[in-house]
Amino acid sequence: MKVTVVGAGSVGATCADNIARAAICEELVLLDIKEGLAEGKAMDMMQTAALLNFDTKITGSTGDYAKTKNSDVVVVTSGIPRKPGMTREELIGINAGIVKEVTGNILRHSPDTIFVIISNPMDTMTYLTLKSNGLPKNRVIGMGGILDSSRFKYYLSQALSVSPNDIQGMVIGGHGDTTMIPLTRLASYQGTPVSAHAGAEVLEKVAADTMVGGATLTKLIGTSAWYAPGAACGDLVKSIVRDERRLIPCSVYLEGEYGQKDICMGVPVVIGKKGWEKIVDIGLNEQEKSKFGKSADAVRHMNDVLSTL
Ligand code: 2OP
Repeated sequence: MKVTVVGAGSVGATCADNIARAAICEELVLLDIKEGLAEGKAMDMMQTAALLNFDTKITGSTGDYAKTKNSDVVVVTSGIPRKPGMTREELIGINAGIVKEVTGNILRHSPDTIFVIISNPMDTMTYLTLKSNGLPKNRVIGMGGILDSSRFKYYLSQALSVSPNDIQGMVIGGHGDTTMIPLTRLASYQGTPVSAHAGAEVLEKVAADTMVGGATLTKLIGTSAWYAPGAACGDLVKSIVRDERRLIPCSVYLEGEYGQKDICMGVPVVIGKKGWEKIVDIGLNEQEKSKFGKSADAVRHMNDVLSTL
């Protein structure tokens, strides 16, 4: 199997590092436009192979899309990250053009690839990738919900003073500070509802902290986070490459599911070798359905901005 990561910045390089360490593909290509950046980071990662005992062959390229030929999966992280105080949505003006160009270039060399979109605003960039290239919907997957769910589990584990590994929790909806929906009602601690272990006020703060989890890190670091996005991407790519068929919240094209049409948003989907294979209805209650509808309105507004660019 061959995987390409476009964008060798912190997020892209960490995605590549996670994929390489997981040893899930024979070949990994890292591509960037900045002279030498991808080549250098690829070589640096290859110099961990003897220490971390993986055989993934990692190569870097400055702008040569021919090197990405016949990639089974392509992760798109290219574009600018946000700065403190910015929303993901504010990046659309610059990142839409970059994502359109990058995905077009990739498809010229890998016409059958599966895209994993990370560039922000991610739901709209996912929609743009699908529409501008006329791709089958199952081959375009936006990575956001799995990252937000990991932050949700972190905040829940902190509130309950337990291991994050004992927490189950999912975030759906848009990948935005005001559009994501942490599903507290369905979250659990070793199979028991989290509401049995923490009060409503505490759980409301956990949900609020989760929604701005990315912005909190950007304020502290000065740019977008990369460790959790990179690990989330690695998990998602692993489910594709190994055909694990895991249920992962991802931004995918909806045609009536969850009450929405002609939009890409985070919903629980089965992820396997064909990309996303099935949208699973997890039975939202009326309040959650209403939040999903409001989230869709915000994402659709961003999609409408595309036509003005
Ligand atoms: C984040 O939430 C980069 O959107 C990504 O950190």
